[in-house]
Amino acid sequence: AIDLSATIGTETFQHPLINAAGVWDETATEMNAVLASAAGGLTTKSATLAPRAGNPKPRYFDTKLGSINSMGLPNQGLDYYLDFIANTTTDKPIDLSVTGTKMADQIAALQQIQASDFTGMCELNLSCPNVVGKPQIGYDLDATKEILDQVFDFYTKPLGVKLPPYFDLQQYDAMAQILNQYPLTYINAINSVGNGLVIDPDSERVVIKPKGGFGGIGGKYIKPVALANVRAFRQRLRPEIKIIGTGGVTTGTDVFELILCGADIVELGTVVMQEGLAAFARINQELTDLMAAKGYHKLTDFRGHLQEYQ
Ligand code: DOR
Repeated sequence: AIDLSATIGTETFQHPLINAAGVWDETATEMNAVLASAAGGLTTKSATLAPRAGNPKPRYFDTKLGSINSMGLPNQGLDYYLDFIANTTTDKPIDLSVTGTKMADQIAALQQIQASDFTGMCELNLSCPNVVGKPQIGYDLDATKEILDQVFDFYTKPLGVKLPPYFDLQQYDAMAQILNQYPLTYINAINSVGNGLVIDPDSERVVIKPKGGFGGIGGKYIKPVALANVRAFRQRLRPEIKIIGTGGVTTGTDVFELILCGADIVELGTVVMQEGLAAFARINQELTDLMAAKGYHKLTDFRGHLQEYQ
């Protein structure tokens, strides 16, 4: 039999695929549907202290190779997600994603979580590319250090950070050097590739309204970037810091590749937007079949085993 289970901190996932934050997870109806699917767990939409309507529509667009979005963090507010989790009975881990449009709000959100009865794991989103006028914190080394210093002054529950994609080996060195200083449970690499542009040659127009059409790119376009980020961080982070691999997965082979690079579990984003929640069962089955064909019985048989040319 093939065992697909994986652990992050104190949480055990029976299946290694969960939804990426922002995908099928804003309302209780959506979150319950994820929990009822073949997903191994649930991530919530990144919550801000107060509810947000997000950016004007259209703000999401599918293409053959992926998606572009500039949602602008539409969400029901932190209380809603804390209530949902407090009132939900499930064997599956729930990861509470949280963010803010300024540092003080992110700190205040984590203070509220620290003071609450919530005991699960939380993901601090340092990488939303779509708030007008706000840069991604994860691209600012000093700001990243400052927020993590403040957070770990008081926060004692399991915490991960959602990172933007990096593109230079020195960025990995610098960011890993910072991240290694904190008792992080995990990192999640990667958020969408920020501020791409999809255009329609017929209408000669951009396809989403916010920010003049610029938005975060997801889907097949970004798989090599996700693989690189997972691999580069696995080579640099303390082994106790786990890695959630996110970006460009549409098949079981894609999941296999992210785990070969060192991912502990894997998140599905655009593929679930395009195919629906059935993607979880399909991709779990494809991963199982691939492992069986290769003679692997569990994820640790190949996790991180990517080979280089000698
Ligand atoms: O691509 C993204 N879109 N990443 C985020 O972190 C937030 C989201 C949004 O709401 O714009």
